[in-house]
Parts: sequence; structure tokens; C-alpha cells
Amino acid sequence: MDTFIIEGGTRLQGHVKISGAKNASLAIMPTCLLAPGHFHLSNTPNNRDVWTFSRLLGSLGVHAELNDNILHLDSSNITSFEAPYEHVKKMRASIYVLGPLLSRYGQAKVSLPGGCNFGPRPVDLHLKGMEKLGAEITLEGGYINARAPKGRLQGARFHFDISSVGASVNVIMAAVLAQGHTTLTNAALEPEVTSLARMLNKMGAKIEGIGTTTLEIQGVDELKPVNEETIPDRIEAATFALAAALTRGNVTLDNVNPYHLTSVVQKLEESGATVDVTGESMQVTMDDDPEPVDITTATYPGFPTDTQAQWAAYMLRAKGSARITDTIYPTRFGYVPELHRLGASIEGGDAYCIVKGGHKLTGATVMSSDLRASASLVMAAMIAEGTSEVLRVYHIDRGYESIEKKLNSLGARIRRERAKEE
Ligand code: EPZ
Repeated sequence: MDTFIIEGGTRLQGHVKISGAKNASLAIMPTCLLAPGHFHLSNTPNNRDVWTFSRLLGSLGVHAELNDNILHLDSSNITSFEAPYEHVKKMRASIYVLGPLLSRYGQAKVSLPGGCNFGPRPVDLHLKGMEKLGAEITLEGGYINARAPKGRLQGARFHFDISSVGASVNVIMAAVLAQGHTTLTNAALEPEVTSLARMLNKMGAKIEGIGTTTLEIQGVDELKPVNEETIPDRIEAATFALAAALTRGNVTLDNVNPYHLTSVVQKLEESGATVDVTGESMQVTMDDDPEPVDITTATYPGFPTDTQAQWAAYMLRAKGSARITDTIYPTRFGYVPELHRLGASIEGGDAYCIVKGGHKLTGATVMSSDLRASASLVMAAMIAEGTSEVLRVYHIDRGYESIEKKLNSLGARIRRERAKEE
């Protein structure tokens, strides 16, 4: 497992190109199972989760090849309907093959995903949605066995009790080839979901209400392969924007969709940063310590849970105390004890923490616990005095393409120490 060796005292400045969105890639890659043929997905990020999903698709018979951020998928010859535990345990989004396999082949066997490092992450809404569309589902030996009794799912009305990105992605892909009409209510609004729906319509699906929480889907008999550009990664953009402001830097983010991170930009401006948006670029400048600003996560377009750890790191230099509340994942605070090791003063509570800004940070060895927590540790290490080690950076490699190269091009001093092959 690789380690980052990070020198503190950094001030980030310059231009950085934001990659395609990991969570959008993971949502559109499985559409190749809905139609046989060749798909070219441009602006695909070259990160660990995309590699994992490519291997999973490979085990189903899909040929997957990523070159220069263009992912070529050939689904002409599907040979299996089973997503084995060895893939699913690495990445929860593997369950996204359930909907398309059921929809097109009337059967699927998918391992139940493991938990994650921030609490239980159920898939009950995924399964309830499939059952409402007529699937018969049994759980056996840690696997979801699903089949469409009439060989094809049947359109239905389904309401998501909780707004869920993953369940929305899965059920939409199940509904597009179902017999008849499906109405989904309380579907998620995240850009990853709307970009999937738009791509499915390009493939010949009939989805109305895209961008709203009510989707009307008329099932069709077949879909065709298409080429698609992956939307920019709003969470990577938010991470770099906060890192720029934390280091009192001046950074321009290129290839962003500013409309996808308005909640983060507004909080950044409230804290005293300057954010200038020009087309698909966003310039973030900060020449002082930030004002303390509280955040509470919410579903899109609210403040994303995937950015709350980074906000906590940003508040380490605040001129007071800031409260960070996560209403989506109440236990997603694994980064707090690690930031303590750097000298941070953070009080933990139930589904929140309070960062007391202005405490001197000194380098230490810290441990990544999940993808976004790792980002917050890297941010803090960049402003700590002296040298820090961030362990298990495979977590960060899951969702960021060569993050140390991007940060070093902006003035950071991060060295990757490759693990000796076990
Ligand atoms: C997606 O996870 C993202 N992953 C997560 O990003 C992100 O944190 C999360 O959405 C919330 O925005 C991908 O897109 C691959 P949910 P997902 O279903 O789909 C509950 C990252 O850092 N729920 O929207 O798993 C759930 O427990 C990752 O990139 C059920 O109860 O999240 C949570 O409280 C981490 N039953 C809430 O809904 C279900 O069947 C929202 O979860 C499904 C979810």
C-alpha cells in the first residue's frame, strides 16, 4: 500500500485540469450491458474505481480498454450474469450491474456489497425497486439472486423512501427495457443520475422528467450503443478549490461545471475566499485565514457529503470554530482522530464535529480511512509544519487521478513511496 510523504508550508498556485467524474463514470459504464456493441466514453478518469469496474465488466464478457481517458467498452459478447464477491468487496458501485443484467437478460447474481469505512450502507432500496418491477429476488450465501419471471421486467410505480444516488441509477437502468411504463418518484437529482438518464435517451430510451425527482420511463424493446463524454468531477473540483483556499493560494480549475458545485462555492465565498467563474474554469484565491463557516450536508444540490471531510480540513485555519454536520452518513468522521495527530483541535459529536481553527499543525504519520477522508489528510499535511506521512493512499487513488502529480504541479511537495510488492 503506497504512502505519501508530504512537506508542509505549501501555497498552491497555477492551473489544474479537473478529471471526469468518478461517480458519473461508474453510473454510465454499466449501460454497455443494456446494448451489444462498442461504446467510447471520453473524459473517463484513470483511477482505481474505474479499473475495478472495468475488471468486473470483463468478468461478464465485456472488453474494456482505457487509453488517454477514453474508455472503449465492447459488450458484443456477454458470457456471464454473475458479479463475484472478489470484485464487489472492493467497490460498492459494482451493484450497478444488477439493473442492466436483469433488464436485458432477465437474470443476475450479484454479491451483496461489503460495508464501507463509514457505517452500514444498505442496498434495500435497490432490491425493493427491482421487486416492484417484477423481479424475484432471493439472498443466499451473500449473493443477490434475481430473475424476471416472465423473462422481462414489468413497468411499475416506485417511490424511493430515501433519496439514493445508487438506487436511482440501478432502478432507472432496470426500467428502460421493462415492458410498459414506469414512474419513479423521489429519484436522486445528483448530476451523475441526470447524466446517466441523458445517455440512456441517446441510446434510445424514453425517459421524461430528467433533472426532476419524478421520472416517467416508457420501456423500449432494445437500445443501441453510443459514445458519451463523462461530466467533470464536482467533488474533485471542490477538493482542489478548498485546498487552494486552505493554502492561501491562487488556483484556476479547468474543465469544471461550476453549476455542479454552487453549494460549495457559496460557502467558500462566505468564508472570505474569492471565486471567479469563466465558462468551464473557476479561479479560487484566498490571502487570509478563513472565517469559520458551519456546513450541513444534504442531497444535491445541497452541500455534498463527499466534501465534508475536505471542509473540516479547510476550517483548520479558520478564525474560530466551525460545525460540520453530516445528515447522509452520520459516522463519516474517520478523519477526525487522524487530524488530531497533526495537532488539530476537533470535538466529535453525534453526526457532527466542531473544528476549532487556528491551532498549530505539525507533521505526523496519519492513516487514510476512506476516499474523502484521505483528501482531508493530504490537505492538512500540506499546511502542517514539517513532514507528514499519509498511509494507505490506495483510498485516495480510488477517486482521484494522480492527485500528487496535480498538487505538485501547483507547488505542493508530495512524494509517493510505492509499497514493496507483497
Ligand atoms: C453515492 O453512494 C456515491 N457513490 C457516494 O460517493 C456518495 O457519498 C453517496 O452517493 C451520497 O451522495 C457513487 O456514486 C459510486 P446513496 P450511494 O444511495 O449511492 C441510504 C465517494 O466518496 N440508502 O445516495 O451508495 C444510505 O445508507 C462515494 O465518491 C439506503 O438506506 O449513496 C445513505 O444514508 C462515497 N438504502 C443514503 O441512502 C439503499 O438501498 C444515501 O445513500 C441505498 C441507500
